[in-house]
Amino acid sequence: MAYETIKSETRGRVGLITLNRPKAMNALSQQMMREICQSAEEFDVDGKIGAIVLTGTEKAFAAGADVKEMETYEYSEAYIHDLWSGWDRMGRIRKPLIAAVGGYALGGGCEVVAMCDIVVAAENAKFGQPEITLGILPGMGGTQRLARSIGKAKTMDLVLTGRMMDAKEAEACGLVSRIVQTTNLLEDALKIAEKIADYSLPAVLAAKEAVVEAFETPLQSGLKHERRLFHASFATEDQKEGMSAFVQKRSAQFKNR
Ligand code: CAA
Repeated sequence: MAYETIKSETRGRVGLITLNRPKAMNALSQQMMREICQSAEEFDVDGKIGAIVLTGTEKAFAAGADVKEMETYEYSEAYIHDLWSGWDRMGRIRKPLIAAVGGYALGGGCEVVAMCDIVVAAENAKFGQPEITLGILPGMGGTQRLARSIGKAKTMDLVLTGRMMDAKEAEACGLVSRIVQTTNLLEDALKIAEKIADYSLPAVLAAKEAVVEAFETPLQSGLKHERRLFHASFATEDQKEGMSAFVQKRSAQFKNR
C-alpha cells in the first residue's frame, strides 16, 4: 500500500515503519495515525514478519499531535469523531513493537512511545508531555499509560509542568529500555527486533500478551492468565525443539517463526 506520511518497508523478518514528515518534526496528523496503524496491522498478519520497529528522524521521533491540524477543532467535532481513539488499533498489535527514538518524543509522540513494548532511545532523545503549555491535556493515553509505567509522581511532574526529560532520566524511570549512541539508533533497534523475530513466534506472542496483561488486570488474574499461556506453550513443537536443543547443547531451530 502507498503511504504519504510514513515509509513502510521490511528488513529481513522485521517490519520497519519510519515517520516521514521531517519538516513538521513528524507531527502526528490524523492521516499519519491511520497510516502507522494500517502498516503495523499489515506487518502483524504477515507470516514473514516477527517484530516491528517504529522510528522517526534523528531530530524528532514525533513532536506530538499536529497542533496546526487541531488548532481550529471544536468540542463537538473532537467528541463526535472520538479524536485519537484510532490509536486503540496499536493496542491490538500482537507482535512486539519496538520504538527507536531519536530527538523529540513529545505529547502524542511520547504517548506513541508508551504504546510500544521496547523503547530504544538515542542519547539525544527528549521526552515530555507539553500539552499543558497549549491549554490542553494529553489525549492519546499519556495520563494513563505513563502513570502505569513510570508512576504517579513522575507522570504528574511531566504532565503538569510540561518539562522535557532526557534519555537518562527516561531510562531511570522505566520509560526507556536501553540508551544507545545516536548514530547507531536504527541499527541497534533492528538488531533487537531481529533477535526477537528469530524466536518461536507463538512464544513471543504469548510473552507479550502476558506482560500486557499486567497493565490491564489485577495480579491474581494476571498470574492465572500467565500460567495458562505457559501451560499452552508445552503444546508447541518449538517448546520441544527449544528444550531438546538446550539439553543437546546446540542452538534451537524454531519452526514457527
Ligand atoms: N504540530 C505541528 N507542527 C509542529 C509540531 C506539532 N506538534 N511540532 C513542531 N512543528 C513544526 C513547527 O511549527 C515548525 O513548522 P514551520 O517550519 O512551518 O514553522 C517545524 O515543525 C519545526 O519546528 P520548530 O521551528 O519549532 O523547531 P525547534 O527545533 O525550534 O523546536 C520543538 C522543536 C521543541 C519540538 C518545538 O517544535 C515544539 O515545541 N513543538 C510542539 C511540541 C508540542 O507542544 N507537542 C504537543 C502537541 S499536542 C498533543 O500531542 C496532544 C495529545 O496528547 C494527543
